[in-house]
Amino acid sequence: MSESKWNRGVAVVGVGLSKFGAFKEKNSRDLFVEAYLDLINSMHRYDPKKVEAFYLGNFSSDQFEKQAHLAPILASWVGLSPIPTVRIEDACASGGVAIRQAALAIASGQYDVVLVGGVEKMTDLEIAAVTEALATAADTQFEVPAGFTFPGFYAAMASAYMHEYNAQRDAFYHVSIKNHSNGALNDKAQFGQTIRSIMESKKARAAQKGRPVPEWEDEIDFLSDPKGNPMIAWPMTLFDCSPVSDGAAVALLVSEDLASTFTDTPIYLVGSGQASDGALPERETLSSIPAAEEAGRQAYHMANLSPKDIDLAEVHDCFTIAEIIATEDLGFFERGAGWQAAIEGKTARKGDHPVNTSGGLKSKGHPVGATGVGQVAEIWKQLNGIAGERQVPGDPKIGLTHNVGGTGQTCVVNIFERRDLNG
Ligand code: COA
Repeated sequence: MSESKWNRGVAVVGVGLSKFGAFKEKNSRDLFVEAYLDLINSMHRYDPKKVEAFYLGNFSSDQFEKQAHLAPILASWVGLSPIPTVRIEDACASGGVAIRQAALAIASGQYDVVLVGGVEKMTDLEIAAVTEALATAADTQFEVPAGFTFPGFYAAMASAYMHEYNAQRDAFYHVSIKNHSNGALNDKAQFGQTIRSIMESKKARAAQKGRPVPEWEDEIDFLSDPKGNPMIAWPMTLFDCSPVSDGAAVALLVSEDLASTFTDTPIYLVGSGQASDGALPERETLSSIPAAEEAGRQAYHMANLSPKDIDLAEVHDCFTIAEIIATEDLGFFERGAGWQAAIEGKTARKGDHPVNTSGGLKSKGHPVGATGVGQVAEIWKQLNGIAGERQVPGDPKIGLTHNVGGTGQTCVVNIFERRDLNG
């Protein structure tokens, strides 16, 4: 298989993130510069003259900002012209594919040093126009005319999953509560609040306005009440959805032998896989994502690792059901056991399989082209022990990223390792 044919190793030597959120005053360039400056701060020794190429994950600046051909513009904006630039569009997996393509270019020997970026500026459009723009990542011949948009696709997957495994609705709420609680510890996250604090501020707002104060006792009570948490597409509620976001992320990838010239704290890309699939109507199952399972299989094979070796994972929780399915596609739990594991807290920071310590797409935000690169930033921080209050205990050494385009038409899984210099 192609996964074992890499000619040389690849390291990540620095990462950067803009704040994720909704920023009226910022465009893609501003967000990218913010992330690029953060990248420079993350490295011990950076020389921009050493960067040989720029790969950008971006879903649709054409639709969101009426600006196509963004990669050379961003490279020029930070003074990197005339290096070659490439824009990669693979829907919500654009960033993860950009990481993999840059790594392949380094592994081939073509380049030694490649800057990878991801950016999306989504909030200039009204929500209906955003939903329509996102729907262009679905099959516009068969799926969209049937009335589907992305919340609808994942709602169909969620109801199939619940039916097949007799899963309880509360499992989705537990994913949301966990990811909001992680995001509350991440200063880059769009929602820097736990669901409990969102609930309390809604109560306080009602009291301030002289309205009846809702009697929610806890987070599950709040999430179960359509007044606190309206239905979007059954069974996916508002708090089951990732938000519409603006944001950028960057990572610097170099050949393994050059890592120490940039930083004392590299992490290494030891496994990578990618797979594709047709649209949902062509699949035999709605309760798993076959391309994600295949991408994971390739990545584990290349890394010579198995799911039990993974210390933490950033997975593509565009909707809460997607996280539960991901934990099964990646082999952390048996088929049909992911929902129970979520309820039992197995994916919490201190659980057996920490998932989405950054807050995930749900709470950190989902500027689609930036998401796959942003996931690498979290793994970098966790493996280097610099994730602050959300640091996973036990000195994690192996981290995985799982990035999904559409409902699984494009899936990328990358595995990273920290190596101790003294062995
Ligand atoms: N989770 C939790 N709260 C959210 C939220 C989300 N995903 N999206 C918005 N909110 C909150 C806002 O903060 C705001 O709170 P406030 O009233 O206390 O200030 C309130 O909900 C209304 O915000 P608004 O921006 O008007 O929401 P909206 O109705 O325009 O958008 C969704 C809500 C769910 C439709 C939108 O977030 C969405 O489309 N998400 C999915 C995006 C998607 O499909 N991405 C691709 C995945 S493959």
